Amino acid sequence: MSVRRLAPDHVQPASFAFDAANENWADQQIAKYPEGRQASAVIPLLWKAQEQHDGWVPRAAIETVARKLGMAPMRVMEVATFYTMFNLQPVGQHFVQLCGTTPCALRGAEALKKVCQDVIGPQSTVSADGKLSWLEVECLGACCNAPMAQINFDYYEDLTPENFKALLEDLRHGRTVKPGPQNGRSGSEPLGGGETLKDPALYDGTVIGAGDWQARVTEQRKAAAEAAAAKAAAEAEAKNAEAPKSEAPKAEAPKADATPAAATKPATETASPGRPKPSDPGQPSSAANDTPAASGKVDAKAAAESAKSADASADKPVK
Ligand code: FES
Repeated sequence: MSVRRLAPDHVQPASFAFDAANENWADQQIAKYPEGRQASAVIPLLWKAQEQHDGWVPRAAIETVARKLGMAPMRVMEVATFYTMFNLQPVGQHFVQLCGTTPCALRGAEALKKVCQDVIGPQSTVSADGKLSWLEVECLGACCNAPMAQINFDYYEDLTPENFKALLEDLRHGRTVKPGPQNGRSGSEPLGGGETLKDPALYDGTVIGAGDWQARVTEQRKAAAEAAAAKAAAEAEAKNAEAPKSEAPKAEAPKADATPAAATKPATETASPGRPKPSDPGQPSSAANDTPAASGKVDAKAAAESAKSADASADKPVK
């Protein structure tokens, strides 16, 4: 991890100001935020300042951004020193960020560090010709192509000491280089080419058959719909054939209860002789009205006992 300190005074410029185009761009960024929230533009403005100032952020740029956003310079300093995307020291024309995290380390990043030291010099210093500088950084998210390095805005992957050294020399001498994997593979596919989806028939339409495949699919869908309709019709017919047998016992059900009282009651009351449900329409809404006398109904058992008692009284001799 690099030390996050401002560059020494002797390399700091006396002042910094956005050029006209960047000033205009900065104003547009600030306008994206509501009044009183201009500080939210601090990262874009620092980034633009770094871009304008040869890839690093001097103290004067931090102060300029603070003034523009109405922030305390220390607040802007906190942001600039926290995020490693901001370089606080001068960098070369080609700034190499070499990944040294575990996957890249296991695939030879240590050997690449030695190349940097040999070709460029010590970490965080610019080569004498001003062309190159380097810094070890944490994972850059291209571990499947480890080891790798970011140079300015491009990734260079599958590096070896040999191809990395050649790459740095090409950059130094202004020769065209090719970003991405340096071992010939495409993206992160296996070495030697892809292993799957290689059959050309997957892409020329022959896998789904010759001829008018759309007409064939339409026919298949139509046949499936007709089969489903035939099946549904057969099931409905079978159900209708069974219906009379299942309804016959239901018609005789009322005869099962032979008591006169039950015969005069509705079917629901016969099946459930408990208290009427309050929600039933037409039922009394209070317990006082729910007595047999109040409702006009007489329980069959009570009527039988009353008749028996009357018979016994009639049999007694009159004194
Ligand atoms: S560890 Fe190097 S890119 Fe992830």
